[in-house]
Amino acid sequence: MINFYHDRDMMRKLLGLLGSARKNGNTEVLIKEALMGAEEVGAETGMIRLTDLSIRPCTGCMACVFRNEGCRIDDDLEWIFEKMVEADAIIIGAPTYYLGACATIKLFTDRALQFATRLDRMHGKVGASIAVAGLPEWDAFTVPILNTCLLAYNMRIERTLVAYAPGPGEVLLDDKVVESANSIGKVLAGAAEPEQQNSTGLCPVCRTDLVRITEKGAVCPVCNAKITIRLENSSIRLEYDANSVVNHRWTEENFEAHLNNWIRATEKKFKARFEEIKNLSQKYREFDRWIEPP
Ligand SMILES: Cc1cc2nc3c(=O)[nH]c(=O)nc-3n(C[C@H](O)[C@H](O)[C@H](O)COP(=O)(O)O)c2cc1C
Repeated sequence: MINFYHDRDMMRKLLGLLGSARKNGNTEVLIKEALMGAEEVGAETGMIRLTDLSIRPCTGCMACVFRNEGCRIDDDLEWIFEKMVEADAIIIGAPTYYLGACATIKLFTDRALQFATRLDRMHGKVGASIAVAGLPEWDAFTVPILNTCLLAYNMRIERTLVAYAPGPGEVLLDDKVVESANSIGKVLAGAAEPEQQNSTGLCPVCRTDLVRITEKGAVCPVCNAKITIRLENSSIRLEYDANSVVNHRWTEENFEAHLNNWIRATEKKFKARFEEIKNLSQKYREFDRWIEPP
């Protein structure tokens, strides 16, 4: 008899988003294991290999937020978003390339801006991530980039798994990792409890271990939660401020305020000094030294 953790009906649909182009690679097998775990408790699953689709870079035109026109780029983003909206939970996975999640994840995250005015359609969805790297200490930005993606698409993060293996499928030699991936699927399907908040010493919102030291103190760079660093018996302990954890930058209210009070407000400020900027940038527009491939 399964005890469902979530107080709503059991999750029906779990979508896997795969950031690796490598067929049968570590990300692929772990995402599939998570989906298998979800199917074992009755969920319906599907997956998308992001690298097989057209995801073009955001051009920064701002039409999506300044004019509510949607995105002018004609690629697969709208289709992917509809698949995300249809799902109850999403698991995203990526390999580490040069210390961070591979570039496809960043491309996909940047394009979340076009949905900024429609993120209510993602309301209540939960997410998890699987970060694969060749070796520890060469992956500092993988989880931060993956989990920023989940937050940018308005998901609450329930689990994050980090796995190390270089060769394709080699991660399967580690039973614990495979078991963990399977249990992530069950968590997202609503059949198991997510990790207790802060039981892991990671940021309770974004589950990353990055700390940024500023003049004002220490913060989590991903969600802006305040951190107090304590030294206890020669070991470092991080305490995440309870208020800023609840009030992190990715809450629907805070992100909407950022969208309205800052992102949208930049248009008016820019227009007010448009002529001045245009004059200043004249010589740069005329400086034409572009080199193109044959
Ligand atoms: C271009 C490239 C860059 C890589 N950079 C890193 C790195 O910075 N840190 C690391 O731990 N592994 C790195 N790796 C190893 C991959 O993260 C590792 O092989 C992983 O298992 C690949 O996952 P996949 O099988 O799902 O594609 C790199 C691999 C490639 C191809």
